[in-house]
Amino acid sequence: MPGKVLRSLRYAPLLALLVIQAATAQDKAHLSIDASKPGPTIDRNLFGQFAENLGHGLYEGIWVGPDSTIPNTRGIRNDVVTALRELHVPNVRWPGGCFADEYHWRKGVGPAASRPATLNSTWGGVVDSNAFGTDEFMDFLHQIGSDAYISVNVGSGTPQEAAEWLEYMTAAAPTSLEKERAANGHPEPYKVRFLGIGNESWSCGGNMTSDYYLSQLKIYSHFVRNMNPAQQDKDKMVRVAVGPGFPETEWTEAIMKGWQHHDWAWDFNALSVHWYTTANGWPVSTPSTGFGLDDYAKVLKSSLFIDEFLHKQEAAMDKYDPKKLVALSVDEWGAWHAPLAGTNPAFLVQQNSIRDAILASLTLNIFARHADRVRMANIAQMINVLQSMILTDKEKIVLTPTYYLYKMYVPFQGATFIPVNFDAGMYTHGAVTLPRLDAVAARDASGKLILELTNLDPVKPLEIDTDFNGFAPRFATGQTLTAAAVDSVNTFDAPNNVVPRPISPKIEQGKLKFTLGPKSITVIALEQ
Ligand code: AHR
Repeated sequence: MPGKVLRSLRYAPLLALLVIQAATAQDKAHLSIDASKPGPTIDRNLFGQFAENLGHGLYEGIWVGPDSTIPNTRGIRNDVVTALRELHVPNVRWPGGCFADEYHWRKGVGPAASRPATLNSTWGGVVDSNAFGTDEFMDFLHQIGSDAYISVNVGSGTPQEAAEWLEYMTAAAPTSLEKERAANGHPEPYKVRFLGIGNESWSCGGNMTSDYYLSQLKIYSHFVRNMNPAQQDKDKMVRVAVGPGFPETEWTEAIMKGWQHHDWAWDFNALSVHWYTTANGWPVSTPSTGFGLDDYAKVLKSSLFIDEFLHKQEAAMDKYDPKKLVALSVDEWGAWHAPLAGTNPAFLVQQNSIRDAILASLTLNIFARHADRVRMANIAQMINVLQSMILTDKEKIVLTPTYYLYKMYVPFQGATFIPVNFDAGMYTHGAVTLPRLDAVAARDASGKLILELTNLDPVKPLEIDTDFNGFAPRFATGQTLTAAAVDSVNTFDAPNNVVPRPISPKIEQGKLKFTLGPKSITVIALEQ
C-alpha cells in the first residue's frame, strides 16, 4: 500500500500537468465559412492521374492481355476499370515521365504479334513487348471515362515523329495515318485533350538549357497539330510546356519571358511543374509502412512545402502573364518513399498509408487555394508505382487509402472555392510543428456546400463548431477516413483497414457540430 501511494505521488505532477493540458489545450476549433464570397473554380483536372510505362504501372496494373485468366476487356483489367470509374478520373498522363522521351509510338501500334520488343532503359532495362500502345491506352481511357494527356518525345524524338503521332490519333481526313488508325480498329479520331511537350527537359528529358528547350517548344507547339474537327473551336487541345521540378524560378522566367513575346505561330497554355515529397531528400529513405510518429510528422511537414513552391512559381509567372492565361500544371506530385523490400528498386513500389492519404488531402487543399493559377495536377502514379490508387498482384487487387481519399474528393471536381477561416492551433511532435487542422470548402453545381476537414493530430480528437455566412445548412451527410495507426495500410489480405465510414454530423441552430477523430480526413456535404 505505501508503495502504491508513493507511486501515485510520484506521478502526481504529471497527472496535474495532463489535467491542465486537457483544460487548456485547444481541442476545439471554430470555423467560419463565407459562401457569399465564392472564389475560382476548382478545375476537375486537378484530380488527374499519371500512368507511366514503369514497373507494373501499365503491364499487370492495367494491361494483362486478352488471353489472361484475369477478367479483362480487350486486355484491360475489369477490376481496375471498375475501381477507377468511381474516381471520375478527368485525365491520364501517358506514357511518361522520363519514359516519354524515349518512347517511339510506331512500335506500339498495329497487330500485337508484329510489334517489336524494346528495352525500357529508363526503368530497370526490362523488355517491353509494346503490347500496350496508343490504341490500348485510348481504349483504357474510353473504359474508365477519362481524357488523354499525351506526353510527346522531345528528348530522343523529332517534331516529325510527334506530328505524325498526333495525326495518327486525331486526323479525320483520309490520310495514310488516318487509314492506318482505322485499320487498327478506330475509324473515329481520338480526342487528345492535353499535349505535354517533353518531360523534365532540364534532366532526364534531354538535359537541356532553358533557351534550348524554348526553341524546341516553339517548333513542337507549331508543328504538332491536333486535327480532330471536334477540337478546333471548342475543347481545344491544351499544350503543356516543361517547367521546373525545383523551387528556383530561372527556368520558369526564361520560358514565360519567351511566351510573353509569342506570336500566332507558337504558343502554350500551361506550364508543368513537378514536386515530390521526399522528407529526407534524395535518395529517398522514408519507409512507406512500419514507421512511427517521427516519420508521420516529418513527412507531413515536408509535404506542405509545395505551397511555398507554388507561390514562387506563380510570382515568376505573374511577371509575364498577370492575367493568368497560362495555367500551372502540377503534373507529377506525391509521396516518394523508399522502395518496398524485395521489389525491383527501379519499379518504385511503395505501400500507401493513412499518412499518405492525409498528405494527399493537404496537397489537394493547397491546389484548391491556388486554383486561380493551378488548373491541372496529376498524382504520381496511378497503379503499383509511388503514391498509387491501386496495388495489384497477379489476380489480386487492393485499393489504397489515397484511392479512398480521391473518391471522397469527387464532389470537389469543378466546384467553386469557398473561403474558410479557422485557427485550431498547432500539433507539435519533437522538433516538428504542424497546423492541427486543415480545411477547404466548395460549392458544387447543385448548390451543396462541400466541406473537407483534416485533423493532423495523430492522438487527439478535435471538436468542430462551424458557422456560415450566405448559406443556411439544414442537412449534413459525410464520410471519415481514419485508421488505427499512423502507418496503417490496406493489404491484399486485409483490404479494409483504411476505408471511409459514413458519419452523421449534427446541425444545431445553423451551426455544424462534429468531432474529428485523430489523423482523420472528413468530407461533409451540406444542403440548405
Ligand atoms: O514519376 C517517376 C519519375 O519522376 C518520372 O518519370 C519523372 O518525370 C520524375 O522525375
